Amino acid sequence: MKIIKEISEMHEYTAKLKKRGHSTGFVPTMGALHEGHLSLVDRASAENNKIIVSIFVNPTQFGPGEDFDKYPRPLKKDLKMLKETRKVDCVFTPDRDMMYPPGAASYVTLENEMANVLCGASRPGHFKGVTTVVAELLNIVKPDRLYLGQKDAQQALILSKMIKDLHYNTEAVICPIVREKDGLALSSRNAYLTPEQRDTAPILYKSLQMAESMVELGERSAETIKKEIRRKIKESGVEIDYVEIAGTEDLAPAEIIAGNVLIAAAIFVGKTRLIDNTIIKI
Ligand code: PAJ
Repeated sequence: MKIIKEISEMHEYTAKLKKRGHSTGFVPTMGALHEGHLSLVDRASAENNKIIVSIFVNPTQFGPGEDFDKYPRPLKKDLKMLKETRKVDCVFTPDRDMMYPPGAASYVTLENEMANVLCGASRPGHFKGVTTVVAELLNIVKPDRLYLGQKDAQQALILSKMIKDLHYNTEAVICPIVREKDGLALSSRNAYLTPEQRDTAPILYKSLQMAESMVELGERSAETIKKEIRRKIKESGVEIDYVEIAGTEDLAPAEIIAGNVLIAAAIFVGKTRLIDNTIIKI
């Protein structure tokens, strides 16, 4: 497993792969790896013959007062996990100045409502940071396929749109959410939870499951479903950031459950912000 820190070396490496006719699958991450990340590596391995993972805690996607400084960075452990449990060909671990050289002032932004709703409403500028860093990474890695998790459904939709709008020669592949036994979606941020908070956190998924059951039983009013989700989450004493139901194409608010809709929610368990979602197809 090659570990590359320099962009110039990455360019040489990927040029060599292309020349030799390899297909490349790319999994961008911020590290603190878990089975959710590894599921993307597995999917990439099934569909490509060379696998590249990046580990970079991207400063531009964190807002002031967010957890950039305390975000876990267990790089050695991550590299060991990748090396010992998967067949990864290359890990790209640039530093901040490499990705954002002093004086860099260019950004990639999705300028429509998709980036301003759900997580975009509570984290202004977040998706500008995400699109910018992934645009950079795609220019550096030039993969045939980019692997993203549905865990961050809005991010996956926004990046798929960016790829299409900007004609990247890359296919975005969106992979299912990996969960703990009690339903909590795996997240690097789960490490912040105290044991009591960890016991409370599955309320997020439970409330989404309840929403799924309501739809199965025939409920079609988005407002009624959102109200029930909010009620259930509040009952457990957890603070709600948002509960939204939106179309999966454009993330426009849905009033009626019809076609494909995304039910997404974010909560604060203590100071830790957790997100989860489910896609309903009728
Ligand atoms: P990070 O949170 O490290 O996640 C990296 C990838 O793993 C994302 O595509 C995310 O959706 C996926 N992922 C995380 N938890 C998952 C789970 N439980 N099941 C399935 N997939 C999961 O998302 C980012 O990093 C960054 O925003 C990044 C795209 C790397 C840009 O900086």
